[in-house]
Amino acid sequence: MSVQQPINDSHRRTLDPIATPERLLLGPGPSNAHPTVLQAMARMPIGHLDPLYVELMGEVQELLRYTWQTDNRLTIPMSGTGSAAMEATLANTIEPGDKVLVAIKGYFGLRLADMAGRYRADVVTIERPWGQAFSLEEIEQALETHRPAIFAIVHAETSTGICQPMDGIGDLCRKYDCLLLLDTVTSLGAVPLYLDDWKVDLAYSCSQKGLSCPPGLGPFSMGPRAEAKMMGRSGKVPNWYLDVTLLNQYWGSDRVYHHTAPVNMNFGMREALRLLAEEGLEASWNRHRSNAEYLWAGLEGLGLDMHAPEHLRLPTLTTVRIPEGVNGKAFTQHLLNEHGIEVGGGLGALAGKVWRVGLMGYNSQRANVDRLLNLIETELPAFRGSAPVAAAV
Ligand SMILES: Cc1ncc(COP(=O)(O)O)c(C=O)c1O
Repeated sequence: MSVQQPINDSHRRTLDPIATPERLLLGPGPSNAHPTVLQAMARMPIGHLDPLYVELMGEVQELLRYTWQTDNRLTIPMSGTGSAAMEATLANTIEPGDKVLVAIKGYFGLRLADMAGRYRADVVTIERPWGQAFSLEEIEQALETHRPAIFAIVHAETSTGICQPMDGIGDLCRKYDCLLLLDTVTSLGAVPLYLDDWKVDLAYSCSQKGLSCPPGLGPFSMGPRAEAKMMGRSGKVPNWYLDVTLLNQYWGSDRVYHHTAPVNMNFGMREALRLLAEEGLEASWNRHRSNAEYLWAGLEGLGLDMHAPEHLRLPTLTTVRIPEGVNGKAFTQHLLNEHGIEVGGGLGALAGKVWRVGLMGYNSQRANVDRLLNLIETELPAFRGSAPVAAAV
């Protein structure tokens, strides 16, 4: 028998119970979760192979298919955040040496290229400045030149507030015989999105934006062409946790244990998707659009400039140029500390140049827009002249 040792008592171990303040999350995500989603998540867990849970899994899959407008059999919520689902699309389909063409027009295109390289793809890229979208001609030219196995692009670029027009891209990918992989993290549930009509072969999203759920699940969908590529691999999927051939034994008809599903996250996902279906997909899209237009008009009325051209603007995420002379970070810190409102700063090429205002899922409400516009009107003037002019350029 081993002798009991004196325990190491040098780490802090007395804390008060958690008490997070009220926050209104109007940044790039997470967004506030719907109250009944939180109630669903607070239920006692049940077993991840309990017949009741197995039934819930099927319900979540059907609701996800509705939300994405797809009949894809392999539609599941990955355990993990949007990046896990992003990685799953790549890990399952890339074989070493496959050419992957990534369209980069912001931060998340860069992440896709980085991940594809880690699975030993031959990564080639096309780029647009942060705040623009790709034209069909540019995409066709790149497909013709590179003849990739996979073309990856972000639908809703959270770093720039740009929504990529999708008309014709799926047909081009069929013409050049490559898979179309689409990032829908900031569009699912909130922006018109039709996976099957757009001929998207692989897609992923997150729980914490348009779906009004906390972060923790990454919806994933794989169409028949991508499935055929995965099944034709010469070796195993090089990521055990995200291997869809294994995961499908749990999510498909066999219900074989793979990993212990985060059951309470899936309770929340079921409730979030149920609420969305109750509202109706088109009603949700329209709500996001009209609240975003209301925000844009209000901001412009206060003399602020939008970064994204109106025809490409995302309803879920607005990039607003920080006015010259304003210390953008000081103002967002003020909003958070004094008013409990989170607004995001710029990422990468837009760092220090824009604020990012999110109106996603439960938070896409006119009252939230009014609250923010009021604060900008009354409290931003005090921040004018808070930054040297050069820093604002
Ligand atoms: C467009 C886009 N793709 C991918 C991700 C990664 O998702 P997550 O942070 O949930 O891992 C994000 C996160 O905000 C995103 O906005």
